[in-house]
This record gives sequence, structure tokens and C-alpha cells, in this order.
Amino acid sequence: MILSAPTTSLYAMTNLPSATSAGQQQSAADATPQFVRLTEAHRKEVGITVDGEAITALTGDTVLSAILLHTRRVRDTEFSGEPRAGFCLMGACQDCWVQLEEGTRIRACSTFVKDGMRVLTRPSGVIGA
Ligand code: FES
Repeated sequence: MILSAPTTSLYAMTNLPSATSAGQQQSAADATPQFVRLTEAHRKEVGITVDGEAITALTGDTVLSAILLHTRRVRDTEFSGEPRAGFCLMGACQDCWVQLEEGTRIRACSTFVKDGMRVLTRPSGVIGA
């Protein structure tokens, strides 16, 4: 499913925190969400897991939104292992592939969350997994 671009933004991107070393920068970056929810916080909550960690999302959130409201990366690139947070956010670039625990690969930016969904951003066999 491809989503049309929203006419108003439901989310705002945050800035990377400053840090003094690469290790500190990585841990601080992971702890600070990429997105901040700006509106529509009244929708029904759903529970999903991301790499085994339980998180809360709202009905109508995409998997990408749900993940980036909790951390800064959606997956690691297969080529270098560097963290990625999606690029086009509309189903065109393929920069947001993640996997469900049952094995199905999904584009996080164009897949809506479902209660009980179990997402893996670092499937086994991928660099940095
Ligand atoms: S971010 Fe481009 S396809 Fe999902």
C-alpha cells in the first residue's frame, strides 16, 4: 500500500543531540526519537514490539512513524551497516525495509501498525545484526 503525502505534518523531526565521542553520540542518538508527535494524539493505542522491545503506537501510524517516535533508526543498511531512518517516507525509495518476526518483509513507511505486530529491524544475517 502506498500512502499519499499528507497535506499537514503530524510529526516534526528532532535534532541530533551533541556528544563528545562516537560511542556517546551513538547511545545519545538512539535514546532521542527522530520524530515528535505534534497532533492527533487522541487515536486508539496499539502495542507492537520492535526488536523485542514493547512500544506503544497509535492506530493509523505507519510502522516507520511508530519506530521513529521511539528511536532514531529504522534499520541498518545492508552495505555498510550504517543506521537509516527512511528517505522518501512514501513507499518509493525502499530505504525502510524491515521484517516481521514471521518472516514477511514490509516497507515501514507504507505499512500501518497492527496491535501485536512484532517487527525486526535487525534480522539475522544482516550486517550489524
Ligand atoms: S522511506 Fe522510502 S520506501 Fe519507505
